[in-house]
Amino acid sequence: MPEFISVKAQVGAKTAEAVRRALPRDLDAVDPVVRRSERADFQAAVALDLAKRTGRNPRELAGVIKAELDGLEFEGRSDGPYGDLLASTEVSGPGFLNLNVADPALWSVVAARLADDRLGVGVRHAGARILVDYSGPNIAKELHVGHLRSTSIGDALARVLTHAGADVIRVNHLGDWGTQFGRLIQYLVEHPEFFGGTSADATGDPSTPALDGVSLEELDVLYKAATSAFETDPAFAERARNRVVALQAGDPVTRAAWKKLVELSTCAYQDVYERLGVLLTPQDVVPESFYNPMLDGVVAELDRMGLIAESNGALCVFLEEFKDAKGEPFPLIVRKSDGGYGYAATDLAALRYRIKELKAQRILYVIDTRQALHLKMVFATARRAGWLTDEVTVEHVAFGTMLGPGGRPFRSRSGDTPQLSELLDDAVAAAGAALEQRASLLEPAEFDAVVQAAGIGAVKYADLSNLRIKDYVFDPARMVSLNGRTSVYLQYAHARVNSVLGKLSAELKGADADRMPTVNVDVPIEPAERALIFALDEFGGVIEDVAATLEPHRLCTYLFELAKAWSDFWENCPILKADSDAQRENRTALAHLTGRTLRQGLGLLGIHTPRRI
Ligand code: ARG
Repeated sequence: MPEFISVKAQVGAKTAEAVRRALPRDLDAVDPVVRRSERADFQAAVALDLAKRTGRNPRELAGVIKAELDGLEFEGRSDGPYGDLLASTEVSGPGFLNLNVADPALWSVVAARLADDRLGVGVRHAGARILVDYSGPNIAKELHVGHLRSTSIGDALARVLTHAGADVIRVNHLGDWGTQFGRLIQYLVEHPEFFGGTSADATGDPSTPALDGVSLEELDVLYKAATSAFETDPAFAERARNRVVALQAGDPVTRAAWKKLVELSTCAYQDVYERLGVLLTPQDVVPESFYNPMLDGVVAELDRMGLIAESNGALCVFLEEFKDAKGEPFPLIVRKSDGGYGYAATDLAALRYRIKELKAQRILYVIDTRQALHLKMVFATARRAGWLTDEVTVEHVAFGTMLGPGGRPFRSRSGDTPQLSELLDDAVAAAGAALEQRASLLEPAEFDAVVQAAGIGAVKYADLSNLRIKDYVFDPARMVSLNGRTSVYLQYAHARVNSVLGKLSAELKGADADRMPTVNVDVPIEPAERALIFALDEFGGVIEDVAATLEPHRLCTYLFELAKAWSDFWENCPILKADSDAQRENRTALAHLTGRTLRQGLGLLGIHTPRRI
């Protein structure tokens, strides 16, 4: 298999070679990016860049590069005007190079792709150990809309990086520790009837309440009740705080109740993950409590390095680059005045562990942009402590807020932040309505599965297709539209390709109707075919782009453009009624590649592609 099956990469490499030949060695470093253009298949601006650096005339430079390029193309050839790759080269405007690819070269790439499961996607990240920290819901608090973005963005990135060859470690930094457990457990002890349990026994054993089979919704009710008791009843608040101490001290009864709460939520989260179709499994959970035994050591190490200062009884790290609004030093609190460790201490321990034990080379934190300062301080502290070195990259993959109707912060009818599962229900209902006219074409069970895939896919695509950092409005009706920038449009295009292929093999009926088409490189290419070939050609480049920028919207946009190129092709280039067998074969090959690219591309976003819609 060639290293890359991309026309664009080949044209770029050839242009680079021409530049190397045309210019003195010290200009080697130039990377002549070629771009798709209106005027030619590709355009290179390399002569303009070089002219700026050398003071030479750009058109003249372009001419020299063109001569080299022509030489490369036609070297040793006497059999015609065309080289293997380029059909024509031309200097245009102030010094652009216009490059047109020869039709046979395009068909050769189509043929190579057809035989390549990876569809021309390289493995540029092979060997890189990349940790992706995503989802990270907080136990007993609802898995709510805020976690949707982290979950879908993190999952898409984990998939893309894995596909690009990286050794990806998925981590679900589950919030299973913290003061909220004091009030939850205390409330359960005092209200054994809460989940229909009979009684707390004399020892106040809170594991007695019937916690089994409790749903996230019920836990949410518990959370609210406990919080309101905590806020309104000082005596209860005191007992809840003692419960936190008991939990931290390892009191067996309290621990048992905590463990049960954690298990319950973990199972419930897993249900949501499965419904969402994300890769996370219970094995990916490394909860906050996992780092508890390391916290003393982390703080001791920071202290030895002189990084710890006491402030009002709390242990803090003050770094000069962090100041509050008044210009006063702003602390990262690692141990609170009551002796408890918090979120920051855990994140420091986690970072140290990820570098030292897991040997991660690149660590991605897929977290709301509002935690930017927290992460910056954690990273800076870890750098000062010497854990984070230049060999390791840490990145905050920040994202904006998902907003409710009218662009206001999300509130459900009851005034609370809606649960993730409610949003998914809304989207699936909208998908059902949008696809209603397709219902009669499919078996009920298949139609149900399609509607699920469409609804869930729509939520993810809407989330991923926006610029990560921006806020966006959750709008189920728009998300499932069949003729907008939606996953439903893409899933539909994919199903159309399948049905075309199905009809073709039915009509052609031969014994080997399902065989792969044979590409004939001598067929002339029509404009809509050309556009589709170039769209298919971009796939590998886009995957590399997403892996480099961590911006899944680039893949979303790409797939939409591909689907549009397909529909143009479909309108203009009959397959069954093609002019010749060879043309029909070639067009069938394009249909195959389109279907596979849409499926693989959507798959990398974590979106299903039903065979039929
Ligand atoms: N539990 C956190 C929250 O809901 C997210 C955890 C993100 N990961 C991390 N290493 N801090 O805000």
